[in-house]
Amino acid sequence: MSSRYDVCVLGSFMKDLVASAERRPLPGETLHGTGFAEFLGGKGVNQAIAAARMGARTAIVGTIGDDRYGEEFLELLKRDGVDTDWVVRHPELGTGVGLPLVLPDGSNSIIIVSRANAAITVADIDAAAAVLTSSAVLSVQLELPVEASRAALQLASAAGVTTILTPAPVGPVDPSLAAFVDILVPNEMEAAALTGLDCDDSQVPEIARRLADAWDLRGCVITLGARGAFVLADGVEMLVPAHPVATVDTVGAGDAFCGSLAASLAAGAGLVDAVRLANAAGALSTTINGAAASAPSRAAAVALLDSAGSERSRFAVGPPSP
Ligand code: RIB
Repeated sequence: MSSRYDVCVLGSFMKDLVASAERRPLPGETLHGTGFAEFLGGKGVNQAIAAARMGARTAIVGTIGDDRYGEEFLELLKRDGVDTDWVVRHPELGTGVGLPLVLPDGSNSIIIVSRANAAITVADIDAAAAVLTSSAVLSVQLELPVEASRAALQLASAAGVTTILTPAPVGPVDPSLAAFVDILVPNEMEAAALTGLDCDDSQVPEIARRLADAWDLRGCVITLGARGAFVLADGVEMLVPAHPVATVDTVGAGDAFCGSLAASLAAGAGLVDAVRLANAAGALSTTINGAAASAPSRAAAVALLDSAGSERSRFAVGPPSP
C-alpha cells in the first residue's frame, strides 16, 4: 500500500517561554535571568517540523487550546507544510506551555505544563486512524496520556507502519507500549532510567542490547549529546560520533534528531544511515536558539555530513554498517 504521508507524529504542543541564566536557581532563590524569548515547541511539534524540513510529507496528531498560542502553532505548521487536519482544539483548556531554562553552555532544563495536551483521548486517536495507519513511519513521545500513545502505536503497528518511540520526558514507561514499538530512541538519561545502568561509554552497548531484547526491537538508538549516538540494528552496533558545532541552545536537539530519523526511514534509508543524517540535524539545531524553529533543512544537514567525511565507530563491535 502506498503511504499518504511519510511521517505522522503523535505528540505535544508547548509554547516555550525560555529564560536564559548564568546558572540554575537554588531552592528558595530568586535569580536574575540574562535573557527571555518565546518559541514554539513541544516534542511532537519539534519532531514534525524537523521531519518536514527533511523533505518528508508530514502530519501531526495532537490537541491545542482555542487560544492565541494554538493559532501560532497552526500557522507555523502550515508554513512548514505539516498537515494539521487531525489537530483537535480543546474548548476550555489552554495550549500547553514549556518553561525551558538555558545556561551559557547551551544546556537546558525544562518544566512543562500539559494543559490541552493532557486532554487527548483514545476517541481522538480512533478519529485519526486514517493518518496513523497510512503513514510510512509513526513517531511518538511521552508528553501525552499513555492511553492515547498506546492506542496510536497499536493501530499503526497492526497496519505495518514503522513505529518509533522517544521515551521522553524521563520517567517510568508503561511496559505495555513495548509490543507496538519497532525503534526506541532514548537519550542517555532515559536509557539509564529504563535499565538502571549508568550510560557511560563502556555500558552503552550493553544498555542498547538489554533494551532491544526487553522490548523486542528492530533497532535501538541512544542519543548521547556531545558523545554522538549509539545505534544497534541488524547485528550492527556502532557509535556515530557527534559533530563539533558552536552550541548555543540544546532545546529541541533530540527532537530534530528524531524527526530527521523518521524522515530518512520513511524514505527507505537503513537505520545507520538515518542516524548519521539525524546526528547532523541534531547538531545543527543546537547552533540556533529555539525548539521547532531550530530544525535544519535537509540540505544543511547533508552539507554538514559531507563536510565531516565518512563517519566511523569509535567502538564498533559489529559488522560494517550496511
Ligand atoms: O524537547 C524539547 C521540548 O520539550 C521543548 O520544546 C519543550 O516544550 C518540551 O516539550
